[in-house]
Amino acid sequence: MAQEKDDTFLSEDHFEPFQPSESFKKNAKVNDNSFYREAQDDRLAFWSRMAGNLQWTKKWERVLDEDNPPYYKWFINGKLNVSENCLDVHIKNGRGDKRALIFEGEEGDTVSLTYKELLKEACKFSNVLDQLGVKKGDAVTIWMPMIPEAIVAMLACTRIGAVHSVVFGGFSPDALKDRILDSDSKLVITADGANRRGKVIPMRSAAEETLNDCPSVEKVVTVKRTGTAYESKEGRDLAWSEIMAEAGETFEPVTMDAEDPLFILYSSGTTGKPKGILHTTGGYLVGVNATFHYVFDHDDDDIYWCTADIGWITGHSYIVYGPLSNGSSTFIYEGTPDYPNRDRFWELVEKYKITVFYTAPTAIRSFMRWGNQYADKRDLSSLRLLGSVGEPINPEAWLWYHEHIGQGKCPIVDTWWQTETGMIMITPLPGVTPLKPGSASYSFPGVEADVVDDHGNSTKPGQRGFLVIKSPWPAMLRTLYGDPDRFESTYWQQYPGLYFTGDGAWKDKDGYFWIMGRVDDVLNVSGHRIGTMEVESALVEHPAAAEAAVIGKVHEIKGHSITAFVTLKEGYEGSEELVQELKNHVGKKIGAIARPEEIFFTYELPKTRSGKIMRRLLRDIAEQRDLGDVTTLMDPQVVAAIKEGYTEK
Ligand code: WT7
Repeated sequence: MAQEKDDTFLSEDHFEPFQPSESFKKNAKVNDNSFYREAQDDRLAFWSRMAGNLQWTKKWERVLDEDNPPYYKWFINGKLNVSENCLDVHIKNGRGDKRALIFEGEEGDTVSLTYKELLKEACKFSNVLDQLGVKKGDAVTIWMPMIPEAIVAMLACTRIGAVHSVVFGGFSPDALKDRILDSDSKLVITADGANRRGKVIPMRSAAEETLNDCPSVEKVVTVKRTGTAYESKEGRDLAWSEIMAEAGETFEPVTMDAEDPLFILYSSGTTGKPKGILHTTGGYLVGVNATFHYVFDHDDDDIYWCTADIGWITGHSYIVYGPLSNGSSTFIYEGTPDYPNRDRFWELVEKYKITVFYTAPTAIRSFMRWGNQYADKRDLSSLRLLGSVGEPINPEAWLWYHEHIGQGKCPIVDTWWQTETGMIMITPLPGVTPLKPGSASYSFPGVEADVVDDHGNSTKPGQRGFLVIKSPWPAMLRTLYGDPDRFESTYWQQYPGLYFTGDGAWKDKDGYFWIMGRVDDVLNVSGHRIGTMEVESALVEHPAAAEAAVIGKVHEIKGHSITAFVTLKEGYEGSEELVQELKNHVGKKIGAIARPEEIFFTYELPKTRSGKIMRRLLRDIAEQRDLGDVTTLMDPQVVAAIKEGYTEK
């Protein structure tokens, strides 16, 4: 891995960095390097000052407990409540009538809730949770479309101290089942259906079997969104609107310890089983509160739009907890950028006068491909800052985003982070950092990222290596739910004392980080993280499949697309029907995002002598590159056979 970067890599040398404009700088939250220096001088004092921006019922006694690594603890014995910090404090500060949450549905229906109104809804749902017997520490699964009720449900969970597990609405009922079972949820909150590109996608009725198969589930609350019918079981099913109509409008926030669990979020790893990433209360909120404030240069007049789904960490940290704990106005949209027209997002920016816009490179590449006309015909002059997240942004997409959406004047913050890190870790600060298209620039103050070689030593400028974090940070994951061994082996055993991110990276001569993507068996498809093993396990559950190997093939828009190589059991023949059947099967087991784009049948898979599938080789075959070193291969002929089968297609 540690090697000189190759020359084809579009690097810093190609551009003059973009300097922050004087006008942006003038009003920016950070406009000189003193903020970095403060954190360098005393990292823990810096985080302690950041923590002081929140309201604590009881102040912490110590900032960081490092006695039992990698089980770090932050803000020892501090007490606070997340929903109180996201709602009540702003009302106390005279901001009760400010808009907290603005929503537009796919069909153009709208909802706008002030801080007072959002607090009332959250309190009502807290009362509902309480009446349903949900207690502090209980897990609650939320499987919903992007509608305001989803955020109300999350906030209510934090208010009573329940641990939410939000499952992306696009995951299939089978995937939902695994996550409900793993978290042992008593309650599931869902909707009857979702609107998607003019069609209705049933949710609650589709989950019937799943719910019946989950013994822990006592109650199911369903929001009416699409009017889709479902079977309501006496004693188990409750309609959101009915129980909310009778619920009390106030609810005292439950005092939580800084280290009490806040939420679980499942994310893909290198095995077939998703990891339940556990975040806790105090450190997480400090981390997302501070990063939102400084990275997005929070201004009281902002209308902020992050296009992620609440089912991902970006939605948790930068739609809900970061913006609301800062008293910002957070906008959410139910639909996709291309329905009913390809200018839908720009129409919304114009209509709501969005000032800060945060999206993913895969979306930007689609916009580029569709052409300039959609953005050009809309008034985007309200925008002042843009963000990017989810995968490396190629300089070409960066420059397009800067020119066509940012009108040449908006800084772009390319933010590197992960579900595990909870908060943004590597990012420009828009009022100070000269921007290099394609680089996420520097560690956020108080964060110590580095690139190391195979032995854990820092690499030289220009030398590729592995991205690690050298010291604990407040919003770090605390463990993998129910699987501490996997927590230790996945993140902490590669390099003792360092957090291993799973990404490859290099630093340039100015110390800018250039992230190259995953070095493990995890794919990034349209900014979504998918484990190759997860897709492989889904494939081999089909009766026809004997073995499967899944790889990510470089894809112009999606970053990676999924290609699967499958060997069949005796008696099965490869056919176009079987390809479709297997694709649908994966869609059913995981969700549409994991459906392979291509499936190839082969007699055998290339394996090392120890039996490990050689994915690198398959990737090379799929991308038609010259094959690298094949000496560890068991049967070189297999490769030839696969290659032939592949190119024939
Ligand atoms: C992986 C984490 C964190 C929000 C969304 C994804 C990749 C994320 C960047 C970026 C290069 C990035 C990494 C990382 N990634 N942001 N700005 N530049 N790569 O969260 O599903 O936990 O995936 O996304 O590979 O490890 P996630």
